[in-house]
Amino acid sequence: MDIRQCQEEDLELLERHIPSPGQTRRHAMRFDKQQQGLSTFLVAWSNGIPVGSAQILWQGCTAPEVHKCFPECPELNGLGVWPPQLRSQGIGTAIIRAAESHARRSGHDQIGLGVDDQNHRAAALYLRLGYRETGCHYLDRYHYIDDHGLRHEVAAPARFLIKRFTEEPG
Ligand SMILES: CC(C)(COP(=O)(O)OP(=O)(O)OC[C@H]1O[C@@H](n2cnc3c(N)ncnc32)[C@H](O)[C@@H]1OP(=O)(O)O)[C@@H](O)C(=O)NCCC(=O)NCCS
Repeated sequence: MDIRQCQEEDLELLERHIPSPGQTRRHAMRFDKQQQGLSTFLVAWSNGIPVGSAQILWQGCTAPEVHKCFPECPELNGLGVWPPQLRSQGIGTAIIRAAESHARRSGHDQIGLGVDDQNHRAAALYLRLGYRETGCHYLDRYHYIDDHGLRHEVAAPARFLIKRFTEEPG
């Protein structure tokens, strides 16, 4: 498996194999953000097919409750492995490790991520990988546009975890 920064020519394959919900154009939006220098959009490939992705938001979590407490902490955001039958094979862990390496190489000594209060399996994985509770709870607000073009606003209770690189050798 290969994990690398998204290129413009990857977008068509990404949309074909990991379809955005409704009309959200998620991959193109992430790529645009990377082009603006605000993020690094990582894609995992297996035999030429994208199987997972995540982005590092260099300016940190956009939720005001988190940004106020951790303004300097980049956020690993939107991690996902697709299709679901490819989960539990180490792809998510590999993407997390790749994001951590990018953050270290960019001179950061920590990286954070938000996890939905209902997502117990993902939280258990992050805690196993060295992420620690910060006590920062917030509402993860985002929107998506469904197949009919209707915009849906979501506000999901979540908490912010942080991994400090000083706690483990590079
Ligand atoms: C959360 C998510 C990204 C994790 O990715 P993943 O590829 O399933 O994660 P990993 O395989 O690295 O690790 C997860 C599990 O596989 C196990 N595992 C890791 N490597 C393994 C391997 N080589 N063989 C078998 N099992 C393995 C881990 O012990 C872990 O156990 P669990 O199933 O009890 O949690 C993925 O499940 C996903 O896309 N979920 C839906 C979206 C989501 O919840 N995203 C997170 C938002 S915060």
